[in-house]
Amino acid sequence: MNDERTLTPDELDEDARTDYALRPKRLDEMIGQAAVRDQLDVSIRASKERAEALDHTLFVGPQGLGKTTLAQIIANEMDVGIHQTVGTVLQRLELSSILTSLEEGDVLFIDEIHRVRSDVQEILYPALEDYSLDIVIGQGGPGAKPVRIPLPRFTLVGATTREGMLTGPLRDRFGLHLRLDYYAVSELCAIIERDARLLNIKIESAGTEEIARRARGTPRIAKRQLRRIRDYAVVRGDGVVTETIARSTLDTLGVDELGLEDMDRRIMASIAERGGYAGLTTVAAAVSEDERTIEDTYEPYLIPIGFLTKTSRGRSLTRKAYEHLGLPPNPEQNELF
Ligand code: ADE
Repeated sequence: MNDERTLTPDELDEDARTDYALRPKRLDEMIGQAAVRDQLDVSIRASKERAEALDHTLFVGPQGLGKTTLAQIIANEMDVGIHQTVGTVLQRLELSSILTSLEEGDVLFIDEIHRVRSDVQEILYPALEDYSLDIVIGQGGPGAKPVRIPLPRFTLVGATTREGMLTGPLRDRFGLHLRLDYYAVSELCAIIERDARLLNIKIESAGTEEIARRARGTPRIAKRQLRRIRDYAVVRGDGVVTETIARSTLDTLGVDELGLEDMDRRIMASIAERGGYAGLTTVAAAVSEDERTIEDTYEPYLIPIGFLTKTSRGRSLTRKAYEHLGLPPNPEQNELF
């Protein structure tokens, strides 16, 4: 069921393997994202009732909120196979080969679908619309022959952190558009408690809350921190994750009260040092980080919490950010304050 780029659980490192094992497999095991779960529940039941494939489904939202997990849940709930790939690496030949190996109703999951190259999208359109694959047989010239291969009805599940980068025609081919948002602290607490139970970790409720508060609304981060803190609790304490152990571990790891990490602070400091405005390229060079990683990993949290804005003069820091960094604000930035 896996294409060659999808790692099997055996090939993942230990952290990723644990993560995989703890992922909810069914809709009713998943905590949070109530609106998305509800819409999916209705659509899945209706499709099963009609014995049809689920509509092509697009998940939009920041990293670590469960887009891949939901694709897997759809396949489990529909009782079909799943083939996974990533938009950045997808080539025409690979897509053609995945499409021809699909079985009726299967899920094709494309992560980072906004990165699928336009020549690959050309193959995707007729596949999505008419369930057909248009290929040319022969080496070109007079012997070349276009052939249309019928495909089984399948469901494309696309995931993107940047809906704005999807081309209109591709976006329009998804029947379901589902937006994932950051999780509430109470939801993260429930997720941490579930993982702790499954991993036999003893944790006090104040410890759970401390991790949840500092997890940037993101289950992937909460789960990772829980495992790091468990190690500290075993080595430095009596194995129980208390509020004190959680707090001191997160402090040691450089995670602050708002869940911001060293790179977040370096990004903000690099803008502050340049008078409160800086272009993305300048910031990326200053902190030695890839521009795309800054845009996809750090900004999606710094912007909604009101620390960073995008302006015509580049990225800009808000008064709140200066206060958090303990720096005096730049008086020239009046329009933001
Ligand atoms: N475990 C239970 N619910 C979860 C969720 N929404 N994300 C990640 N892990 C979970």
